[in-house]
Amino acid sequence: MSTSFAVETHRLRDHVNRLEAEHPPLDPASVDYTVRRPALVLERFGRVLDYMARAELEVERNAQELNILLPHPPEIDRYFYAEVWQPQEAMHGVILDELQVRLGSRPAQANLDTVSVKVKVLGAIAHLEPVQDVIRMLYYLTGMTTERSALLAYHRLHDGLVEMGERAAADTIITPIRRQEPGHYAYYRMSADALWQQLTSWQRWLVQRLRSVSFAPVAANSPSQLADVGDMMVQLGINDSNEAVEFAEQTSRVERDLLWAQEKGMRVPPYIAKSFSDALVLSQQRS
Ligand SMILES: [Fe+2]
Ligand SMILES: [Fe+2]
Repeated sequence: MSTSFAVETHRLRDHVNRLEAEHPPLDPASVDYTVRRPALVLERFGRVLDYMARAELEVERNAQELNILLPHPPEIDRYFYAEVWQPQEAMHGVILDELQVRLGSRPAQANLDTVSVKVKVLGAIAHLEPVQDVIRMLYYLTGMTTERSALLAYHRLHDGLVEMGERAAADTIITPIRRQEPGHYAYYRMSADALWQQLTSWQRWLVQRLRSVSFAPVAANSPSQLADVGDMMVQLGINDSNEAVEFAEQTSRVERDLLWAQEKGMRVPPYIAKSFSDALVLSQQRS
């Protein structure tokens, strides 16, 4: 084990210990579900709540997928995703889903246990050590874009609710949830920075290729679910392709700087820009 690797592991462990101590899963008893104008909140943000609730609830399946994709994870990864990340996110999902049901919506249609073919295929080769590092890199990259886009979404949702005078939901639901996301992002970022430095050039090449062909926003595993992402974007005020690309850029700066440092002038990885732009188009076509 190299010194820098040992130092990095130590730093990550401190970080996760702190997250666990300072951010226990939210207590449902601390939530005030009072909404002054439920129909209006549903009309303005119903698609956001439904998508975010589903994405958060599906961490249960994501954790199973990680068990398949990372058969021998570094202990720090397992500790992070099984004992800190998953319980926090699952509670975000429970609370958001409860909110949308109280507003008169149906509960989120979350896929909690059906693992995709994509995951099974990768899982079949995941036990090979050089491949394992490639998959672990993809996990960190996915984590970064997911956490960034969630944070941006919660930010806009919070401001929208405050603007509508819905302080209870903004202050006792969205604020506490969004406070827990930056720590997740930081974990993936530290891990990605460290691992990228250790990858050989063919591993880096493979990460770039696999990421380019497999990128999708979280919880978007079909055209209809990608349209759901588009619906959410529209309700958050991301209405045209320029804004979609800007949103994509905000979710993926670190990925661009790590993976595509050689590509001078690249503003946003093209597969990420395309995916969020497609989401918007699919949403517009459906409506
Ligand atoms: Fe979350
Ligand atoms: Fe998170």
